[in-house]
Amino acid sequence: MSNDLLTLLKQHRSIRQFTDQPLTAAETNTLVTAAQHAATSTFAQQYSIISITDPAIKHTLGNITGHHWLEKSGHYFILVADQHRNLQIAQKAHADTAILRSFDKFMASTFDVAIAAEAIVTAGESMGLGSTIMGSILNDTRQIIKLLDLPELTFPLLGLAIGHPAEQPELKPRMPQPLMHFSNQYALSADFDSQLTAYDEQTADYYAHRNSHLKKITFSQHIVQELQRDPKLRAELIQVIKQQGFNVD
Ligand SMILES: Cc1cc2nc3c(=O)[nH]c(=O)nc-3n(C[C@H](O)[C@H](O)[C@H](O)COP(=O)(O)O)c2cc1C
Repeated sequence: MSNDLLTLLKQHRSIRQFTDQPLTAAETNTLVTAAQHAATSTFAQQYSIISITDPAIKHTLGNITGHHWLEKSGHYFILVADQHRNLQIAQKAHADTAILRSFDKFMASTFDVAIAAEAIVTAGESMGLGSTIMGSILNDTRQIIKLLDLPELTFPLLGLAIGHPAEQPELKPRMPQPLMHFSNQYALSADFDSQLTAYDEQTADYYAHRNSHLKKITFSQHIVQELQRDPKLRAELIQVIKQQGFNVD
């Protein structure tokens, strides 16, 4: 089965180098519109998008994420979990607002943000743009909350750098489906080891031959390496989420 959208989805790769050409207001508006039309849990539209145009803020975000290349993107978005707007609506109606603080609602905002981010990525790719979703803004959410003046019941979840691509990285091979798609019950396939070995060989080949940042590593080694990051990094996330008014205990 093939159509233009399926082809586009299978051509996805994150882009981290951009030309100097900024996005136009019409382009950013189109991307935000695409995000708005994505599914949203209980139709609560419980997220907001902040366009970061101030170079000083972008520079600070570069420091926080360690990704100074974001400063050269054609546009930078921050996607924020947002129950604050619905708090205003509920307070006007003198409703009980406790549920807006619940873990369930925090998760609903998280889903909304993730789905909106993917809509922006895909819409952008259909327009010839490239992007990278950035969870690394979570490295210092306290600072981002101050910087963006985020009120209670909001939380910065994802950054998104987007622009005209100045690179064309190879596609990263995804794992064989028997490792991640099951029927009715969770069941790692009987030939898990051989499937994984084949995927490790495929990923090692990808890392050894891609056109930049060559590495000698397999997917399994990559997963283990990910676990070796400083455990103090983001250790305070739950405290900051609570400080923003969410009851996530
Ligand atoms: C939730 C999320 C957070 C991510 N955070 C970062 C990030 O902080 N920095 C980065 O360079 N890439 C980030 N990425 C991009 C992934 O590294 C990338 O999608 C993955 O390596 C697969 O590569 P591909 O998108 O080119 O296929 C993130 C992706 C997702 C979905």
